[in-house]
Amino acid sequence: MNRHLLVFLGSPRKDSNSTILAMEAAKAAEKAGASVEIIHLAELNLNPCLACESCRDKGPGECIQEDDMKEIYPKLKEAEAIILAHPVYWFSLNAQIKLFIDRWYAFGGDDYACFKDKKVGIILTYADRDVFTSGGVNALRAYQDIFNYLGAEIVGMVYASASEKGEVKHDPYAMEEAIKLGQKIVS
Ligand SMILES: Cc1cc2nc3c(=O)[nH]c(=O)nc-3n(C[C@H](O)[C@H](O)[C@H](O)COP(=O)(O)O)c2cc1C
Repeated sequence: MNRHLLVFLGSPRKDSNSTILAMEAAKAAEKAGASVEIIHLAELNLNPCLACESCRDKGPGECIQEDDMKEIYPKLKEAEAIILAHPVYWFSLNAQIKLFIDRWYAFGGDDYACFKDKKVGIILTYADRDVFTSGGVNALRAYQDIFNYLGAEIVGMVYASASEKGEVKHDPYAMEEAIKLGQKIVS
């Protein structure tokens, strides 16, 4: 087994809970023999989609914007597996991850072919105790629709309540689930 896994981190803060879980998954995937690349979305220069439709003329993964998506499009296209890890903000996806997903519109010129058969893992953290009242459930539902539309398989969703930085380390269940996700997504 020699899968390539891309892990996208959407939290803007250091010692982030969603990042801690994502790193557990990444380590487990590497241990299982996969090659893994971690991408911190908050450190990149990424603009929102302009809905200019230029990608429909230029071709899949070709956007007119001169920002860091230029380097990410080919990586995203090639990866066999991706993990999206981020906090819940305002009862849904946080801005960093939503902006990034909006830019996938550029792959629509070939009906999002590069997503077919990709394996996907989702990692979410939120402060509320409950996945429903936190709004985590809205993000999870959105991912079901997004990846059903794109033809990719969600192999696991790990979600945990944690508020202060690093707090999720004290949640052995969530840490174990993240490890299992890392193993499963590259198997
Ligand atoms: C702008 C903002 C909005 C937030 N909105 C929610 C929310 O709607 N529901 C919730 O349960 N927690 C919310 N939180 C709390 C974070 O989701 C929580 O602290 C999470 O563990 C942060 O993950 P991170 O450490 O990976 O950044 C919000 C935090 C911020 C900064």
